[in-house]
Amino acid sequence: MKPGLWRGRDLLSMLDLSAEEIVMVLDYAAVLKEMQRRGESHPWLAGKTLAMIFHKPSTRTRISFEVAMNQLGGYSLFLGPGELQLGRWKEMADMARVLSRYVEGIAVRTFGQEIAEELAHHATVPVINGLTDREHPCQILADLLTIREHKGRLEGIRAAYVGDGNNVAHSLMLACPRVGMDLVVATPPAYRPEPDVVAAAREMAARSGTRLELLDDPVAAVSDADVVFTDVWASIGKEAEAAERERVFRPYQVNADLVRYARPDYMFLHCLPARRGEEVTDEVIDGPASFVWDAAENRLHVQKALLALTMGE
Ligand code: CP
Ligand code: NVA
Repeated sequence: MKPGLWRGRDLLSMLDLSAEEIVMVLDYAAVLKEMQRRGESHPWLAGKTLAMIFHKPSTRTRISFEVAMNQLGGYSLFLGPGELQLGRWKEMADMARVLSRYVEGIAVRTFGQEIAEELAHHATVPVINGLTDREHPCQILADLLTIREHKGRLEGIRAAYVGDGNNVAHSLMLACPRVGMDLVVATPPAYRPEPDVVAAAREMAARSGTRLELLDDPVAAVSDADVVFTDVWASIGKEAEAAERERVFRPYQVNADLVRYARPDYMFLHCLPARRGEEVTDEVIDGPASFVWDAAENRLHVQKALLALTMGE
């Protein structure tokens, strides 16, 4: 493990990491977490700058990337919505070329995956996905680290995801089969994950001999689960559909009645922000099985690992 080992590489999708590399990021993050806890400084990105192009709002992602760069001795430059002379995302290619002359890495939070891909294609520095409509790989890496910390392993863990077949569900589906985890996803029929993600995840599950299922029934999904995931019913950009989604997703709420079907020592995870009383109730998110704050912290450690690996010397 050494800073700069993946110098210049992009992380736009979970698929950009092999199964071994996912585990490497978690191992590296665990080392960095321990160094930070002990107060051992690790200024591996001294003199380097991360530009953060955010077309959508953020709390955790923005803060954890900024703190990550600070703890690594570098600098972060937040470029929020409306702060760039972008006008049209078509100009992403030129922005990538210009930024590559100033900074050593870019984190992007945007709408279409193709916008992040366009940026990465034209940038000569690494680009990390801080959420697109399609994926949220940093979140799933943090979730996997949290599960491994508390369960001691990933292999053989049975996860359930209940709710919208969105970016978080996609990245989870593209990770679980490759780290030996079973995954059952329960969504309303009209809100299934994208078919190509389902096909890719099924193929990986067949290869690794793990279980990957898509169901409509949240009770069947959660039954005997070691980990129960959910996420907001209306992601950023879908606010206009919120009322309709609230009606359709109501039976998918993660509440005390539902989690009683999970294993007694199950873990609850949610990427946050949570809409309490919608996709999750207070009793679950504030209950003893909830590890949402640990997962939020672990965003910092996994992102430090990614930044050190891709931007380090
Ligand atoms: N989980 C997550 O990405 O949170 P933010 O939207 O607050 O960054
Ligand atoms: N699915 C949510 C995740 C937020 C971190 C969204 O895209 O808004």
